[in-house]
Parts: sequence; C-alpha cells; structure tokens
Amino acid sequence: MKRVAVFLSGRGSNMVALVRACKEGRAEAEVALVVSNDKKAPGLEKAKNLGIATEVFARADFPSKAEQERRMVELLRAWRIEGVCLAGFMQIVGPTLLNACPNRILNIHPSLLPAFPGLKPQAQALAYGVKVSGCTVHFVDEGVDSGPTIIQAAVPVLEDDTEEALSSRILQKEHEIYPLALDWFSKGLLELEGRRVTLKGGDALKGLPPEGFWWPGLAG
Ligand code: GRF
Repeated sequence: MKRVAVFLSGRGSNMVALVRACKEGRAEAEVALVVSNDKKAPGLEKAKNLGIATEVFARADFPSKAEQERRMVELLRAWRIEGVCLAGFMQIVGPTLLNACPNRILNIHPSLLPAFPGLKPQAQALAYGVKVSGCTVHFVDEGVDSGPTIIQAAVPVLEDDTEEALSSRILQKEHEIYPLALDWFSKGLLELEGRRVTLKGGDALKGLPPEGFWWPGLAG
C-alpha cells in the first residue's frame, strides 16, 4: 500500500473520489497530500475539509518550472510519497518531476485516448462526431496525455448531447475508474512492458469487468 499525493488545479472531484475510495477501503492507498499550482483551486478547500494536508506551488512564484518541480519533489520526499495522481492538474509535467517519480505518476483524462488529448476533450469529441467517448487513466510520460493506458471506460455520445451533459456523464465514470487504477498501482499490481500495462496476479480481478470498462489483461 502506497502513500500518494493528488495534484490538482480545479474543483477536485476526482481527488474527493480517490480519498473516499481509500477511506472506504475500495482503494488500498493513502492520499496523504494534495498539491495545487493554483491557490484558488476549489479542490484545496475540499481537501482541507477531508482532513488532508495541502500545499500550493504556483508557477509564478518560481524562477523556472524546473525549480518549481524541484521544490515539489523535495516535498514529496519529505512526506514519503510513493506515487502521484494527477487529477485536473493543468500543467505539463516536466523532466524534473518525471525523473524523480519514474512510472509513479498517473493521470486521468476525459476521452478514450489516444483520441482527443489536450484541452476540452469532451468538446473535441462532440465536434468530431464520435459515437463513443469516455475516460482513460494512464501513466504519465513526457508527452501530453500520451503515456501507457491503465484502464478506460466508455460513455456513449448522445444525439442531443451538450459539452456539459457529456462531461458530467464521463465524470461519473472517471470517479469509478480512477480508484480502481489507484488500488492496483498502490498494491504494486501494474506491470509495464513497453506501452502495455498488465495486472499481476489473477486474484486482482474478481470476475469480468463491468460493461463499458476495459482494464488490463492478466500478466502471464
Ligand atoms: C477531469 O475531467 C479530469 O479528467 C481532467 O480534468 C477534470 C478535473 O476535474 N483531467 P476534477 O477537478 O477532478 O473535478
């Protein structure tokens, strides 16, 4: 079981879902720390209300992104943090943070990657006219929303969908898949070979994934 930090820049609903899952035993991990790059992020207040320590590292307060990340890494070490969950963290992770946490940073993105990376993926999906979208939890690499896929959930795009309606249906699925991914990560069950992620140990999966969920195959 790992101590993790959640990084956010906004409302923090995924952070709350992760914390709840840990407290209720659905994810065997401890969210020890919440970090934001925006002191006005509503998620900070939510974290405090949940009794979680918070820290702000605004990019503007540091001479460079490398320096900002160096200080973040110092904090993660001081708190003995073993993994990071990005949850609406609106800053691309740079080499300083990435190299300090190899294959230990997860992200959630509201599309079925590799479709629609970057900003406003729900609006991108609507504009493109796809019939199915969803969300993806993946390991973070040096690119934008480009790391190895851990789990995905599909969400139909409806004829009269709006960006808000689609986003909110996808968000419900985000709150289901991120705790699952955190649980596997925290238990050390995720095996990475190239871009392929598999789950160690057959006991990890009790039965088949629910409809609309795609999760890692079992490692041999
Ligand atoms: C979520 O849709 C997440 O997938 C994306 O940013 C949004 C953050 O929402 N990366 P919240 O702050 O977790 O409510």
